[in-house]
Amino acid sequence: MTFLEVIRIYKEKGLPEREALLLIGKIMNKKKEYILAHINEECPEDHLEEIIQLFEKRKNGYPLQYILGEVEFYGRTFYVEEGVLIPRWETEGLVDICKEYIHKYNLKRVLDIGVGSGVIAVTIAVECKSVQVYGTDISHKAISVAQKNAMRYSVDCDFRLGEFAEPFLDVFDNIELIVSNPPYVREGTVIQKELEYEPAEALFAGYDGLNFYREFFKRYNLEGKIVIMEIGDDQGNYLSSLTGGKVLKDLTSKDRYLVIDKLIS
Ligand SMILES: C[S@@+](CC[C@H](N)C(=O)[O-])C[C@H]1O[C@@H](n2cnc3c(N)ncnc32)[C@H](O)[C@@H]1O
Repeated sequence: MTFLEVIRIYKEKGLPEREALLLIGKIMNKKKEYILAHINEECPEDHLEEIIQLFEKRKNGYPLQYILGEVEFYGRTFYVEEGVLIPRWETEGLVDICKEYIHKYNLKRVLDIGVGSGVIAVTIAVECKSVQVYGTDISHKAISVAQKNAMRYSVDCDFRLGEFAEPFLDVFDNIELIVSNPPYVREGTVIQKELEYEPAEALFAGYDGLNFYREFFKRYNLEGKIVIMEIGDDQGNYLSSLTGGKVLKDLTSKDRYLVIDKLIS
């Protein structure tokens, strides 16, 4: 069977061609452009079974990024694996806002709470060379993937296991910007099939999805700091009243980011 034939069979079953090319590339250890250039060639017999297994896995909703082990974020490729959240496009907007404040106030120390794969922290470290980036997560897997991504881009981020800002209480007073894309989905929300493979602690935050924010804002004195967080599209009113912060919209005009500027009080 040729690559084209196997791709066609699965296209009819709903698997997009681009994904099929990427998956074949994964098995053959080649780029999708190579597979495209050899599309009419016979698929090696010993690889065909593996390819079909991956096609089936994907067809059953297993996320493409977990199969490939990589994801695109802010124009770069990052490692990702099961147990760590697959970054979303909205989070690129969070990085844009952070960069704006870092440049405006010439900030030097940034803490990312809930680093996950490290996309926010590592992107800031790469793009803002003079900033020291710290990061925390309650997941061992997340800390280890974030460290791999920092190494991939040769940046020196300090990632520590623990909740909220607790692992950095020794330097907390010196941190000028806290960024976070925390879990904010309501417990019990019916989620699409693909999300079922993602870690629950990265998504859910209590009956109204606000547990992380309530606890964070209760726990820390934020005078002298800027806090920039991603939020659920129906959480803006509550969170701006809770914190006095302003709410910004994402590219689809939904409430998405909370900004609290207490740098100069
Ligand atoms: C929505 S994911 C965001 C991951 C990554 N920053 C991104 O944007 O792709 C939330 C992350 O926060 C972590 N997390 C949840 N509660 C936490 C807490 N109290 N303190 C630190 N990390 C937490 C989860 O393990 C998860 O990795």
